[in-house]
This record gives sequence, structure tokens and C-alpha cells, in this order.
Amino acid sequence: MELGLTNKHVLVTGGSGGIGQSIVKLLHQEGAKISLHYNKSEDKANQIRDQLDSSNLVLIKGDLEKETDIKRIFQEAIDNFGRVDCLVANAGIWAPMPTLTDKMNIDRWEKTLNVNLTGVFLCVREFFRNLLSSKEETASIVLIGSTAGQFGEAGYADYSATKAALMYGLTKTWKNEIITYSSLGRVNCVAPGWVFTEMAEKSLREEGKMERIFQTMPLKKIAQVEDVASIVGFLLSEKAAGHISGETIMVHGGMEGRVL
Ligand SMILES: NC(=O)c1ccc[n+]([C@@H]2O[C@H](COP(=O)([O-])OP(=O)(O)OC[C@H]3O[C@@H](n4cnc5c(N)ncnc54)[C@H](OP(=O)(O)O)[C@@H]3O)[C@@H](O)[C@H]2O)c1
Repeated sequence: MELGLTNKHVLVTGGSGGIGQSIVKLLHQEGAKISLHYNKSEDKANQIRDQLDSSNLVLIKGDLEKETDIKRIFQEAIDNFGRVDCLVANAGIWAPMPTLTDKMNIDRWEKTLNVNLTGVFLCVREFFRNLLSSKEETASIVLIGSTAGQFGEAGYADYSATKAALMYGLTKTWKNEIITYSSLGRVNCVAPGWVFTEMAEKSLREEGKMERIFQTMPLKKIAQVEDVASIVGFLLSEKAAGHISGETIMVHGGMEGRVL
């Protein structure tokens, strides 16, 4: 099914990462105009640009911990392709080491909140401001949550707090606010379980890890990035999901929880 995203301008944060790249490729196939945001992975961003070789793609660098960068990212996106019609707030961090709360220092807590929560808040704020300047009725946001937000994750109080905030409080709040700016605007969230990307790969390769994860999953497989990207594309699409707003779709193979 064609998603009807041709010529829609979509800004994807963290487009240089594993899931972000897959979202960008899907949007490219659908004929969207893409502002691909990245931060440190310039090589990866350049590789995607070379692969797709499209005048419908621009790369925009910026650190989501900095408010001024986020304002500039949106300004550059608008300067290139006009109104940003859709935002995929995909960039996020997950510390490489699990750390119980009594040992978690404030730097780690604050960094995760800065990128995963405040960074998303500031992106959504700029996105809403950009909607104010047009009278178009449609607009769409997809946030990226995690099973850590649904089930919690021992050793990751920081990460699970940010993802729960996106999946519950903010998806529901913003779906009620977006209609102030675009009467048919929608906000949804996609929450993956384990996905094969650089972020998760090392942890997934630990001995016995997958067997443990599979104990609470009927589908004994780890998601590929395309499993997540296709649901993001579906939710962005007015044609496919025009009457869905305020929902979090879990992409976790039917996971029921954690083995304790
Ligand atoms: N992989 C999983 O198993 C999994 C499961 C559930 C949810 N998720 C969520 O899915 C999303 C994408 O994850 P992924 O697996 O694709 O991770 P990834 O490959 O590590 O990519 C993370 C992306 O976030 C960007 N980023 C990190 N810190 C940033 C900052 N300060 N400013 C701007 N951008 C920043 C990175 O940009 P640069 O590399 O250019 O610096 C990169 O593009 C995240 O929100 C993650 O929490 C992942």
C-alpha cells in the first residue's frame, strides 16, 4: 500500500542511527522530503546520502542537548523544504552499562533525561511553532518509546523514566495539543523491544541473554530495524492511520514482561 507520503516533509532525529536509517530509507521509497538529523555520526549520515542520492534529502547536524541547536535544526529544515509536516523523534541514548539506582550518579541521570526527554520536548515545541505559520490541517508526530517504558528495566531507571514519559504522559498530552495548530494533527508512539542495532547488539550477544529475553516472548526472534520503521511509516501516514492518535504501538514480539 502506498502511504501517501509523497512530498511530505519529514524531519527524522537520529537518522544516522540503526532505526533512524531504516525510517529514512522507507520514507525515501515513499517519496517524502527528508531532513535527516544526526549528531556525531557524520560518516554514517554521508553514507545514507550517497546511497539514496536524492535531492529530497538534506543532512542537518545538531546536539539535542542544546536548545540553540534544536532551533537551528528546525530553521535549516524549513529553509530547505518549507513547513515540516511530520516529526519522527527517534534519537535517544541507552547507557552501555546497567547501573542500579544506589550507584547511579547524577551526571548519567541528567544526560539521559536531557537527550531522551528534554531533547524530545524541545523538538516537539519547535515542530508546533512551525505549524503555527501554516493553515494546513494535517501534521503528524511519531515518538519512539521502549519496552523499558512499559515494563521498567532494572539498571536503567534513567532510560525507563524517559521512555514511560514519552509513551504515556506526552503522547496523550500532545495529541490533545497538536489540534490547536493543525486541526487533523496526530501524535503517536512506537515502542520497540529489543532491536538489532549498535545500541543493543553488544548486550544481546551476552551469553544466555536471548534465551532469557525469549522466556516472556511468544515470537522467539529479535526485531529488525525494518519491523520498527514500517510501523513508524504507517503511523505517519494520513491515508493508513488518519484516525489513530494518542496510541503507543508495541513492537516487541508479544512480550509479557521481564524474567526476574
Ligand atoms: N535498539 C533497541 O533495541 C531499541 C529498543 C527500544 C527503543 N529503542 C529506541 O529507538 C531509538 C533509536 O535507537 P537505535 O537503536 O537506532 O540507536 P542508535 O543506533 O544508537 O542511534 C541513536 C541515534 O540518536 C542520536 N543521538 C544520540 N545522542 C544524541 C544527541 N545528544 N544529540 C543528537 N542526536 C543524538 C545518534 O546520533 P549520532 O550517532 O549521529 O551521534 C543516533 O542517530 C532510540 O530512541 C532508542 O531509545 C531502541
